[in-house]
Amino acid sequence: MDDYAKIIYKGKTYKLPVVTGSEGEKAIDISTLRQKTGLITLDPGFANTGSCISSITFMSGEKGILRYRGIPVEELARHSTFTETAYLLINGVLPTRKELNRFSVLLNDNSLVHEDMQIFYQNFPRASHPMGILSSMVNALRSFYPELQTVEEEINKTVTRLLSKMRTLAAMSYKISMGHKVIYPRPDLPYCANFLNMMFDSPVKPYRTHKELVKALNVFWILHADHEQNCSTSAVRVVGSGRVNLYAAISAGIAALWGPLHGGANQAVIEMLSDIVKNNGDIDSVIKRAKDKNDPFRLMGFGHRVYKTYDPRAKIIKKTCDRVLKKLKIKDPLLDMAKELEERALTDDYFIEHNLYPNIDFYSGIILRAMGIPTNMFTVMFAIGRLPGWIAQWQESADDPKWRLSRPRQIYTGPTKSKYIPIDER
Ligand code: SDX
Repeated sequence: MDDYAKIIYKGKTYKLPVVTGSEGEKAIDISTLRQKTGLITLDPGFANTGSCISSITFMSGEKGILRYRGIPVEELARHSTFTETAYLLINGVLPTRKELNRFSVLLNDNSLVHEDMQIFYQNFPRASHPMGILSSMVNALRSFYPELQTVEEEINKTVTRLLSKMRTLAAMSYKISMGHKVIYPRPDLPYCANFLNMMFDSPVKPYRTHKELVKALNVFWILHADHEQNCSTSAVRVVGSGRVNLYAAISAGIAALWGPLHGGANQAVIEMLSDIVKNNGDIDSVIKRAKDKNDPFRLMGFGHRVYKTYDPRAKIIKKTCDRVLKKLKIKDPLLDMAKELEERALTDDYFIEHNLYPNIDFYSGIILRAMGIPTNMFTVMFAIGRLPGWIAQWQESADDPKWRLSRPRQIYTGPTKSKYIPIDER
């Protein structure tokens, strides 16, 4: 054991191995702790606990670094497409042109959704949130595609089917919620343009995909594609550890992402900015509320469990916002309000002392508004982007020979052994 940590407990000394990652991160391997010492660890929210060893994504919260399979997201946002980045995350390497063409053909071949699934949408109440619908529909895919995911080609088929159909399901739910005709995927359109076309094409007003918006959507989904062991990815790994099918594990990830502290923040940011604009731009009271310990209000789109500096994705999204709105000659008061709010927060002692900076959700809603995406679908957009990451992380755990059922321990603080008291004596 060349690198280790010592625990001294009740006069006895225990040595535990220290694991070092390829970027120099270190962890105490506590897998033998309970057996050696009878002790377990306690870490609410797992802020100090690593759940796995992974080679997919590297983040540095202190330096604001994010890399997929070693490639900085800045490079991928500049040069790659979402489908190429999805291939990279899932297969571990960038595809050759031939491999990418094959992948795109598979995505197209799997882009249609079984016609019977359209009936499901008719039975959701009209005001249903698209994230609840998406989680249910992805789970329902298993009923239509029950292949066992035991062999390589079955998994590959399931992976491309999910990547393609989740995008179609999202666009379908929007069209049906509007009472409009469902627009089918087109084999001649690449992934992102196909989605925008399915969302906005109509028999009376044909949709022309705008190259700026297609590029912005590729950047948006590339930046959302993975983020190591965040809440929803951990949900996919934990649910997947029971050896349930991939659709169910992804459905659990969608549910976890929905929360306003996680992926639901992009919708919450737009609602917060709209409220400020409605209240004559009263930023002071928002900042005051965010700093008030007795007020549960948080400045949405600010702060991060890992990034203690500017989220590198927020920087790229902000630049993309400026470029897209300028090119499309869109004036969005919410963008100006976001910039003013950011400026005020970044010069406020409370936010500086707490290392609170804009995260990916702070500006992302502005781009989605420019595309015409309705606010209640913003987190669905996050989910489609995160899907390759969820799949890659699920696959990595499934390929791990030491893959075990996730089952944390606890420290019990309830009543000690008590007697049952018959109801008439209580
Ligand atoms: C995502 O994990 C990932 O990688 C997630 C994600 C991904 O790509 O998967 O990056 C996507 O979920 C981004 C985060 C989106 N959520 C929001 O924007 C919601 C607003 N942010 C916060 O709720 C908060 O910052 C969290 C939930 C993101 C992180 O919270 P932590 O790490 O649990 O920290 P905490 O709640 O313990 O806060 C630490 C301190 C507290 O003050 P003290 O009690 O120590 O004095 O910072 C304060 C908090 O009150 N604080 C905030 C704040 N965020 C933290 N105060 C005001 N506004 C905020 N936004």
